[in-house]
Amino acid sequence: MADKILVAYYSKTGHTKAAAQKIAKAAGGALHEIVPTKEYPASYVATVAVAKWEQLKNEKPALNDKVQGFEDYNVVLVGFPIWWFTCPQLIKTFMESYDFTGKTVYPFCTHGGSGPKNSTRDIRSICPGADVKECFDATKDLTDAKIKNWLGLD
Ligand SMILES: Cc1cc2nc3c(=O)[nH]c(=O)nc-3n(C[C@H](O)[C@H](O)[C@H](O)COP(=O)(O)O)c2cc1C
Repeated sequence: MADKILVAYYSKTGHTKAAAQKIAKAAGGALHEIVPTKEYPASYVATVAVAKWEQLKNEKPALNDKVQGFEDYNVVLVGFPIWWFTCPQLIKTFMESYDFTGKTVYPFCTHGGSGPKNSTRDIRSICPGADVKECFDATKDLTDAKIKNWLGLD
């Protein structure tokens, strides 16, 4: 049976969104935007503070979006910006909102220089029933060939 691929992403300032669009096209996946109910501050510095606070309290920000027919997807790509050396807390909300048992998860991120850091470990700890691959760095030089190689599609 052919893989049915979902590309779910959160992006505050557009970098991860652009990567997710490219990835969905190259992989032939359905694109889904993860949308928090709360609005993060416009400024970078203020968002950094809010995100740190969320992480310290292990807050799980509520989401406004819902993936239709989630159970039909066997491969889920989850994209996000690195916030404080891991995925944003709202990604944890997303991972906890669905049953990932038996699914293959390919995390991907964009970042400002630190790399994916703790994101693979943290996502693995949220959905132990899934086969979670190493977080892929989609920050730059993203080509169709790179994407297909990462996903084993070539
Ligand atoms: C709250 C916050 C925390 C961040 N923490 C990190 C970090 O730990 N390491 C890093 O390299 N970049 C960090 N960044 C930079 C973002 O990961 C980077 O700009 C990313 O590409 C933004 O993606 P977006 O445009 O999809 O929101 C942080 C940005 C914000 C707003």
